[in-house]
Amino acid sequence: MKPRIGLLCSGGDSPGMNAAIRAIVRMSLYLGYEPIGIHRGYEGLIDGRMEVLTAGSVSGIIQRGGTILGSGRSVRFLSPEGRRQAYENLQKWDIQKLIVIGGDGTFKGADQFLQEYPTLRVLGLPGTIDNDLYGTDLTIGFDTAVNIAVEAVDRLRDTAAAMGRLFLVEVMGRDAGFIALHTAVAGGAEAVLIPETPTDFDAIVSVLERGWKRQKTSAIIIVAEGDEAGGALRAAEELQKRFPHYEIRATVLGHIQRGGSPTATDRILASKLGAVAVERLHEGASGAMVGIQSDLIVLTPFSKAVKAHSPLNPLLLRLIDILSL
Ligand code: F6P
Repeated sequence: MKPRIGLLCSGGDSPGMNAAIRAIVRMSLYLGYEPIGIHRGYEGLIDGRMEVLTAGSVSGIIQRGGTILGSGRSVRFLSPEGRRQAYENLQKWDIQKLIVIGGDGTFKGADQFLQEYPTLRVLGLPGTIDNDLYGTDLTIGFDTAVNIAVEAVDRLRDTAAAMGRLFLVEVMGRDAGFIALHTAVAGGAEAVLIPETPTDFDAIVSVLERGWKRQKTSAIIIVAEGDEAGGALRAAEELQKRFPHYEIRATVLGHIQRGGSPTATDRILASKLGAVAVERLHEGASGAMVGIQSDLIVLTPFSKAVKAHSPLNPLLLRLIDILSL
């Protein structure tokens, strides 16, 4: 019987998860393993919802958003009893090696699981649109999410310019401003509100006034959902108080950013990380996230990957103000 590798997606889905699944399955087969897909993340592990995957199971999925395995946030896996059931199912299915694709919560769960069952071998892939993990320049899904948000901003800019309005656009990012910052630079926004920096409405007001002085016809402000201003709707109310006669509109992009076909960047990233994760597991690595830094594949212990995210690019932060002059 061939040795087995289990794989699951957990947490919020992200575009590129399917490309990662495909890479894991095909590299596993190449190295002589039998890949086992686990449905709906840790929940499926606890309930034993697993199936043998073949090369054909992952045909035609590289371009699809979401995940063919399903994903979810498991409350039961937070308890020792849930993890015990999960471990028993792995034993039943003869799986010693596991790859988990997800973010913060996924890796915290994997870390705890390994502490209790150290004979297992577990590696993680950064699968989240938020880009908020330490140890990787990019997470799978981030590039797609940013491109979706930028396309939306371009469309809103047309209306903003035609009607002479200020638009506040809320993007995802509960704890991190990566999507917001990158969308703001690529969308030519006048300002960005993110959780990592204090929100200063007086500074935003002066930027807007500067634009009006030189007869700008529109303005766009990108707001990360986790910013302390409380999202785009609240920030719009705050600005409307200061400019009662100005037409201000707020748009919340929400989960639209998480769906759809992954960009080539996300497909390539997912293919690299998925394939190398299998190779590293094969060599005996465990307890770490497989990420990419300056185009090199790097393993970062789960505990470190979730502790803090990599800093935002200070150059991008500085450019928002200068380039929207
Ligand atoms: O972690 C990814 C993410 O999309 C966050 O940006 C967002 O805050 C959260 O998931 C939304 O979670 P849910 O899909 O459970 O509403």
